[in-house]
Amino acid sequence: MKAVQLNQYNGNLLRVLAAMRLAEVPMPQPAANQVLVRVEASPINPSDLAFLRGGYNVRKPLPAIAGFEGAGIIVSTGEGSNKNLIGKRVTFYVNDDRQGAWTEYVTLSDQDYFVVDKDMPMEQVACLFINPFTAWALVELAQKGGHKTIIQSAANGQVGKFIRHFAQSHNIEVINLVRKPAQVEELKNEGAKYVLNSGEDNFDEQLRALASELKATAAIDAVGGGLSGKLFNALADNGEVIVYGGLSGQPLSGFDTLGAIFRNKTVCGFNLNGWMSEKSSAEFDKVSQTLQSLFTSGKLTTQIQASFPLDGFVDGIRQYISSMSAGKILLRP
Ligand SMILES: NC(=O)c1ccc[n+]([C@@H]2O[C@H](COP(=O)([O-])OP(=O)(O)OC[C@H]3O[C@@H](n4cnc5c(N)ncnc54)[C@H](OP(=O)(O)O)[C@@H]3O)[C@@H](O)[C@H]2O)c1
Repeated sequence: MKAVQLNQYNGNLLRVLAAMRLAEVPMPQPAANQVLVRVEASPINPSDLAFLRGGYNVRKPLPAIAGFEGAGIIVSTGEGSNKNLIGKRVTFYVNDDRQGAWTEYVTLSDQDYFVVDKDMPMEQVACLFINPFTAWALVELAQKGGHKTIIQSAANGQVGKFIRHFAQSHNIEVINLVRKPAQVEELKNEGAKYVLNSGEDNFDEQLRALASELKATAAIDAVGGGLSGKLFNALADNGEVIVYGGLSGQPLSGFDTLGAIFRNKTVCGFNLNGWMSEKSSAEFDKVSQTLQSLFTSGKLTTQIQASFPLDGFVDGIRQYISSMSAGKILLRP
């Protein structure tokens, strides 16, 4: 079968791409209690780019197959697996050393996939496993923390869009941060009340004033670097910055030390795997059903900007990095 193969980790993405290949690799065979899935589509996510650059917490021995998330159809099962699963569509997450999602076939264990509602559109299934659950979990955290106003960075991304949706249903006000003037207009046209452009000269003052007026006590941050410090400094006493992404590629910085000491502000990290491992399967299924009904009813949608065949992965990645806010790019074997 064919798979997109990574041959070197490099902070320079163009160098990584130049060394990547669509390679012929052995077809995986399902072990006991595993299923074999024919991949239908897989998105390019920020975590994939971080992985290619060698800056992610998953580092596979090379050559490695890239891609973490996708949709596909179960085509066979290993010993002990339910044969009735054959023909079902699943959403999946794969991060083991020998496999990846940018491929034709993948073997999966129980915890790596779940069967989806038959009414879920395939492209939406491909982007279901990570972002919708992440946004759900982050808003759940905000709600449990009693936060009435939150700030979020990268607000024009897919997680950002879902966060706005869930926050609204919990009556949590959101201050949305984007980095281009056109994105301010776009979000306002979609109904977002508070949108700031981090690229503006007086952004720091605007952020502090709005956060203070609305008494923002939490920030959900996908960017890191100096922006995290600005968020921290803008929050009210007892505020917390929840960092869930490192899009800037920079270390967290700029925190007001006295804010931590005398105003009881904190910084913590979030990752979806940790959240999932704390949920019982009944709790997870409940969230999953709620999310899927939002997608099948069209209330939630992952924006997809284009699809590319596997051998178009370089063009796909290039297009994605030049226009992330335009939506996901799918690789379709
Ligand atoms: N911790 C977890 O478990 C977890 C789970 C899911 C996702 N995530 C993280 O969540 C973040 C968002 O993912 P997504 O899938 O929603 O992304 P996405 O839909 O691809 O959108 C990325 C957004 O981030 C903006 N952006 C990119 N680089 C930026 C920078 N340096 N400064 C400010 N904004 C920047 C982009 O704006 P432009 O259009 O202006 O580039 C775009 O709006 C990523 O960091 C991802 O790794 C984490």
